[in-house]
Amino acid sequence: MTTASYDARTLTPENVDKALRDAAARATLAPSIHNTQPWRFVVSSDRLDLYADRSRSVPAVDPSGRQLSLSCGAALFGTRVALAAAGLDVVTSLAQRPSDPDLLASITVVGRVVAGDNVAQRLDSAADLRHSNRRRFEPIEIPVAALELVTRAAAVEGASLRAIHKLSDRVSTAVLTQRAESVQSANPAYLAELQAWTTADPQRRDGIATSAVPHGTEAAHDDIPIRRYDATGELPAETRSRLDEAMLALCTPGDSPRDWLIGGQALARVLLELSSAGLQSTILSQVTEVPNVREILRHELRLPGHVQLLLQVDVAEPTSATPRRYIDVISSSA
Ligand SMILES: Cc1cc2nc3c(=O)[nH]c(=O)nc-3n(C[C@H](O)[C@H](O)[C@H](O)COP(=O)(O)O)c2cc1C
Repeated sequence: MTTASYDARTLTPENVDKALRDAAARATLAPSIHNTQPWRFVVSSDRLDLYADRSRSVPAVDPSGRQLSLSCGAALFGTRVALAAAGLDVVTSLAQRPSDPDLLASITVVGRVVAGDNVAQRLDSAADLRHSNRRRFEPIEIPVAALELVTRAAAVEGASLRAIHKLSDRVSTAVLTQRAESVQSANPAYLAELQAWTTADPQRRDGIATSAVPHGTEAAHDDIPIRRYDATGELPAETRSRLDEAMLALCTPGDSPRDWLIGGQALARVLLELSSAGLQSTILSQVTEVPNVREILRHELRLPGHVQLLLQVDVAEPTSATPRRYIDVISSSA
């Protein structure tokens, strides 16, 4: 279901309030590190404020909050696109208030668009189709038209996307991902945190459901390991990442909190374009989580800026949706 379920052509305060609340609900479909969903929304008349919920941060894997901001940036894009799909014209500003560092962005409704925004409607609909797909893929090259589309999508949001084509670059990516995995798996705090955010409880609305990660009876020997979400070690993951799969690196010009929000919006735009084109994707971030490994990747692959995440892309059967928290959009009279 998309946001355009009410008549946004009449900009009554009630309609604007409902549109903002509906858009916040759509935003929660965004991907987030360990499915932490680290966001909060506050509505006040014609404005929706997005806050970081740092009680949901994962300091062992993300001490700087970079991936928390990337996750919130993805939710911000979901909000923007839902409002545009509903026919509302909005202004988005990234917050710069040192007195309130958790306020990340504000979206203000400034009017309505006369013609429907077809791109926004397409991307908003794709949010229901996009799920991380960690199953084993078939080797493909991303179709040229789709690659151009997602490269443009990242650029529109102020980031850049680089396809990792060369075999030597793929080998470097694999070796460095394995190095990051071995550094992290020797860190008890990382493992404890991973275990706390991995769940077999069907009632739980956050964290990585064990059903979202393929498991086998034998450890797989993949070139690029996916994260070992089962931190107990009882169920070795039969992962799917191989050297011949299509890989993309998402980069931002800088590496500040503002760049992370930009990167998150670019991530969401790219993922929704991929879903809309019928392609499946997985986000791989381990190689960016060990600082010196991240720097080596940047230099060895001559990446255009600071690498924020890797994506793997393929044509495959879609996987099912993972749970989301029911959000309570807070009202403010401010
Ligand atoms: C910043 C960030 C980092 C992520 N890192 C990984 C990762 O290393 N491995 C992985 O399998 N998924 C990763 N994900 C995907 C999340 O686990 C996923 O979005 C979340 O569990 C929700 O599931 P969904 O994408 O199917 O909606 C990452 C997502 C974000 C936003």
